Amino acid sequence: MKNIKIIKIKNKLKKKQYNWLITGVAGFIGSNILEELLILNQKVTGLDNLSTGSLKNLNLVKKSVGHKNWKNFKFINGDISNLKICKKAINGVDIILHQAARGSIPKSTKDPISTNKDNITGFLNLLTVAKDSKIKSFVYASSSSVYGDSKVLPKIEKKVGRILSNYALTKKTNEEYARLFYELYNYKTIGLRYFNVFGKRQNPDGDYAAVIPRWIKNILKNKDIIINGDGKTSRDFCPIKNVIHANILSGLNNLKNKNYIFNVGTGSRITLNHLYKTILNSFDINKKKHKLIYKDFRKGDIKHSLSSIKNIKKLLGYHPSVSFNIGIKETVNWFKLN
Ligand SMILES: NC(=O)c1ccc[n+]([C@@H]2O[C@H](COP(=O)([O-])OP(=O)(O)OC[C@H]3O[C@@H](n4cnc5c(N)ncnc54)[C@H](O)[C@@H]3O)[C@@H](O)[C@H]2O)c1
Repeated sequence: MKNIKIIKIKNKLKKKQYNWLITGVAGFIGSNILEELLILNQKVTGLDNLSTGSLKNLNLVKKSVGHKNWKNFKFINGDISNLKICKKAINGVDIILHQAARGSIPKSTKDPISTNKDNITGFLNLLTVAKDSKIKSFVYASSSSVYGDSKVLPKIEKKVGRILSNYALTKKTNEEYARLFYELYNYKTIGLRYFNVFGKRQNPDGDYAAVIPRWIKNILKNKDIIINGDGKTSRDFCPIKNVIHANILSGLNNLKNKNYIFNVGTGSRITLNHLYKTILNSFDINKKKHKLIYKDFRKGDIKHSLSSIKNIKKLLGYHPSVSFNIGIKETVNWFKLN
């Protein structure tokens, strides 16, 4: 199904050029948002310290958008925990899409101080300079991890559980600062609680890689696939294009002055067993050269996750126009070629 609102907005953007700031621009989600905005002839400043992101991602965007549109992009290699850098980055900006963060839960368990510095100090720096400079629109990446141990399905924005990781605490703290900045200074923000996002340029490597790029890479390299648990664990796996749309709709919102938090997902859940089959089907291979191995459940993993997208649909006109199946096909094709 087509997302009418996003089509209208894209048409509007072709005629009007805004100045956007994307933090975490060299990462998976940031570089995908960058690509879409440059294609829509927007001006973008990108800020990244290249800790988990890479110049390779930016070069792939450059290739995809072409020389003319690439000229509308300015890159700042810097850290959001540095207030001066944040001040420099917001200069002349209309809309902020804040994606930079340390995204790994296990890393936040190992090193809570660094996660706190990037995700809380960095966030607070950016929010403060945005408020002081009266930046019209401030959108930031939160996470479904703030639902913690809540077993309620689907997850509704107002009902969160007990926080289970240092990472989730940083995202919850972001949301609390955003709430306070509205109550204390009347500064409006939109927080987007992403569910499991997947798509091109997501990092498949390392111990902390997300399941979809890791499995695709393993299949390409004939390496075994490991499922922790019985495979009935389920997640709301959301194709990247829907997340890009949620950011654009949020950036250009005309909601009344308040602070908002929205889930961003597909509103449906997929088991790991089903995910494996779907990925495999997208490969068209006759004889698989890897094994599927089931191991014990990982301690602390929640069994099911599913977003309610009622609020973002109603207030922003969001629609998850790219389905899980299409998203997997596109992602597998991309990894095959890259
Ligand atoms: N991928 C998901 O499924 C998912 C789910 C929920 C929330 N999120 C959130 O979405 C955002 C983007 O995630 P992603 O998957 O693209 O991760 P990513 O690691 O690919 O991107 C994060 C980017 O931020 C940059 N960065 C980190 N710390 C920085 C700092 N102090 N200063 C400047 N740049 C810094 C990194 O170099 C990287 O380019 C993060 O805030 C993450 O917590 C992602």
